[in-house]
Amino acid sequence: MQFDPLGIALRWLHIMSAIALVGGLLYERIAIVGPAASLPEAARAEFLAASRRRWSKVVMITAFVLLATGLYNGGMNMYTFNTTFSRDHAVLNLPRPGYTIFLTIKMVLALIIFFIASVLSGSRPGTAKIRAEAGKWLNISIVLVVVVVGLGDVMRGFHTGPNIDKVQEVLKQSSDAPPFQAGGK
Ligand code: HEM
Repeated sequence: MQFDPLGIALRWLHIMSAIALVGGLLYERIAIVGPAASLPEAARAEFLAASRRRWSKVVMITAFVLLATGLYNGGMNMYTFNTTFSRDHAVLNLPRPGYTIFLTIKMVLALIIFFIASVLSGSRPGTAKIRAEAGKWLNISIVLVVVVVGLGDVMRGFHTGPNIDKVQEVLKQSSDAPPFQAGGK
């Protein structure tokens, strides 16, 4: 069996960062925002400021790692399977639109999640209004997370599961075939 330590490490980093960020957003919605509302004003402000100072570091690190590993993994998958994905839709019963579109939608939704998470864990006066409605914005980011993880799953289906044999078959064909020449000669 071929072993790809870099691919495995970057996928592990992506999944671990997803677990940390998503778990934190859920915890913030269920166990922080709700209960903090019952605290006296001064105690609530002090508690939320303290938890934000800690959580903002996790948000920054996980957002960076998700973006870096996501771009690398996405780039490698497109590089490896580009010809296959763009040519053999019918053979590979791949969903339309193609992998690139799914990756782009996932990245845009993830950037919105990163923005909401960083504003909610920040302290800039200009974004205080958003923090005042933390419950609403956390609900929105949790719905977006569900979609983002779902997109990751669908994207994985492009080159795993029922497609794995066909992908390998097509890859073998393309490696055996003479190199493609412009004008189809
Ligand atoms: C909130 C942010 C994000 C979350 C929660 C998230 C979550 C996930 C999860 C759970 C997977 C499936 C892991 C697997 O089974 O391999 C995945 C795969 C993936 N994600 Fe993300 N992700 C996020 C952001 C991003 C970003 C910003 C990018 C791109 C820039 C990205 C690109 C990818 C790619 C390329 C895959 C692999 C799909 C495949 O197997 O073809 N993700 N993501």
